[in-house]
Amino acid sequence: MSISMFAIVGAIALNFLLVLAHSPVYDVKIVPETCKKSMPVQTNYKPLGTTRKLGDMDIYETPYRNKASQVVLFVYDIFGFHNNTKQNIDNLAAEGNFRIVMPDYLRGKPLTESSFPPKDEKELQNYLESHSWEKHIKKDTMAVLEEYKKVTGQNKFGMFGNCWGGRMTVEAASELPEIKASAIVHPSSVTTEMAKKVKAPLFLLPSQDEPDMIPFFNILRDRLGRCNTGHRRFVDAPHGFMGARSNYSDPAQVKAIKETTAIISKFFQEELSINSTSLRKCSNYRSPGLA
Ligand SMILES: *[C@@H]1O[C@H](CO)[C@@H](O)[C@H](O)[C@H]1NC(C)=O
Ligand SMILES: *[C@@H]1O[C@H](CO)[C@@H](O)[C@H](O)[C@H]1NC(C)=O
Ligand SMILES: *[C@@H]1O[C@H](CO)[C@@H](O)[C@H](O)[C@H]1NC(C)=O
Repeated sequence: MSISMFAIVGAIALNFLLVLAHSPVYDVKIVPETCKKSMPVQTNYKPLGTTRKLGDMDIYETPYRNKASQVVLFVYDIFGFHNNTKQNIDNLAAEGNFRIVMPDYLRGKPLTESSFPPKDEKELQNYLESHSWEKHIKKDTMAVLEEYKKVTGQNKFGMFGNCWGGRMTVEAASELPEIKASAIVHPSSVTTEMAKKVKAPLFLLPSQDEPDMIPFFNILRDRLGRCNTGHRRFVDAPHGFMGARSNYSDPAQVKAIKETTAIISKFFQEELSINSTSLRKCSNYRSPGLA
């Protein structure tokens, strides 16, 4: 091996170690089994929003009242722009006077009914690593934030996501200071350790399928204060209920979707309405969810 080869191999190895040191890679081994198996659900819903371009990326925008409507970023699951997902954010936007923007991070190449489940775990792991926070999701998110600062004059944003999007939301809530309220719904590959880096208020909404998130919640409560976090587990709704796998024929899921919508709406309105750059004070606070 020549010296330049050594240098290249060394640089690659160093880069890899730096990424590892920054945060653990998305790990499919800790993704709930339900997530790796269950398929998107068919729907006849007709989305109410519009789609625009930012560079080479589409952005779905829910209907909104006016320029003052609070901008909230939403990160979908790996099934991309699914009409079930659009229905859930259309409803939330109407309930909270939000302008919810859903970037097409996967550039029109999500997993679909025909490519899911992937033939093995390795294939899924590779797919997710090519769309990691470090690879391009952080850069895309920063570009979206800059764009909406220009378009609306706002400088603080809400952000939430489900499944894969939940993991991306935790990264954003840890690194991007513009995010002032966040929520994760049935997240995947989120570890308790990650709670130690979260800086934005964050509400946890697991389904019946994710690991216990109370330890994560306890860390957030101690670091951010009781009013700047919350935890509600839906014990009778499966992983996926807030995304492409929403089943509007299942009353337990409809109930979970409605309650999730109400909790996020209230939490985000409260967090985003304060002018101060510091966290909310928590005296006499009553959580909208159940701990
Ligand atoms: C989603 O809704 C749009 C608008 O009604 C429709 O054109 C599209 O075919 C739907 N997608 C699927 C996969 O059904
Ligand atoms: C949706 O829920 C209904 C009611 O529980 C159930 O009969 C149906 O099989 C579900 N559909 C899918 C695709 O899981
Ligand atoms: C908060 O900020 C808004 C917009 O910048 C301003 O109109 C409002 O008066 C401020 N409220 C307080 C309590 O400072």
